[in-house]
Amino acid sequence: MSTLNQAELDGLLATAQGEVLDNEEKLEAFRIAHFGRQGLLKALNERFRAVPGPEKREVGQALNAFKQALQAHFDAAKGSLTAQADAAGSGMDHTRPSGEVPLGSHHPIQVVRREILSIFDRMGFTVADGPEIEDDWHVFSGLNFPEEHPARDMQDTFFIQRNPDLLLRTHTSSVQVREMEKREPPLRIVMPGRVFRNEAISARAHCIFHQIEGLYIDRDVSFADLKQTLLAFAEQFFGAGTKIRLRPSYFPFTEPSAEMDVYWGLETEVDKRITKGTGWLEIMGCGMVDPAVLEASGIDSKEYSGFAFGMGIERIAMLKWQIGDLRAFFENDVRFLKQFTSSF
Ligand code: PHE
Repeated sequence: MSTLNQAELDGLLATAQGEVLDNEEKLEAFRIAHFGRQGLLKALNERFRAVPGPEKREVGQALNAFKQALQAHFDAAKGSLTAQADAAGSGMDHTRPSGEVPLGSHHPIQVVRREILSIFDRMGFTVADGPEIEDDWHVFSGLNFPEEHPARDMQDTFFIQRNPDLLLRTHTSSVQVREMEKREPPLRIVMPGRVFRNEAISARAHCIFHQIEGLYIDRDVSFADLKQTLLAFAEQFFGAGTKIRLRPSYFPFTEPSAEMDVYWGLETEVDKRITKGTGWLEIMGCGMVDPAVLEASGIDSKEYSGFAFGMGIERIAMLKWQIGDLRAFFENDVRFLKQFTSSF
């Protein structure tokens, strides 16, 4: 038996450390081969006994260092195998990208609002915004409401007590006036927003609701443009082939004025109920901007003409999802809200 020396131990260690112990079988084989009853360490210990006395101290130290290094290699491999097994056992894959963090769903009013705005966006309308607390001029006078118009009445409008000229806007048409005053035609804008009316809360009415207003002013804008724009909107929102009709109506700020209806159908009992037996559903008010309104905002009505429209978002959301009670939009009941998922 040759004498044990540092060089041989270094060689043995290099070989042992070169062994990749990446599964349980290899680890166990390594343990038996090195630490087992007939393993390498046992053999080396036997040879150590034969080392001559004067060399024992030096060879003994080398052998101890070898044992420690061998054990360290084994422990490290065992440690990483255990960690992998733990991770697998907990069902965790650390290499996977993290999942989507649920942040609730969009409010149905928001879903419909975005859908409508994106349709008008594709037709070239940009979005404009205005204040909810308004003055008489922007909500009424600038829109041609006569002094004694009932909408100004305390019954319909919330006034600000400390300043009687201030009120909560009753419609988004106020933003039309602000934009006409601020900008030069051509104007092609949609104006979403919250509006307020002094109404008792019920399944069909609420003191707070939302509208989307539209305004298009340019040279030679005609009623045909109004009708075609609203038809294009209805077809995109309610589906290709949707039928619309325009019924004469009255608004102080449009002339002529109309209500737009969408054909809903008359097949089921529900159809009959929600269309009051006509098959048609009223969607919005619209009309050609009254020349007096253009002039009041500093736009030359001989050079320019335009159309405007306004729709209630709640009403359209109720139709879209057949929601029977307006109050559901304002109660923030998560059981109601979490049903609305949408790409908008
Ligand atoms: N402002 C009207 C309303 O709230 C709707 C409307 C807007 C009508 C624009 C015509 C033109 O009822």
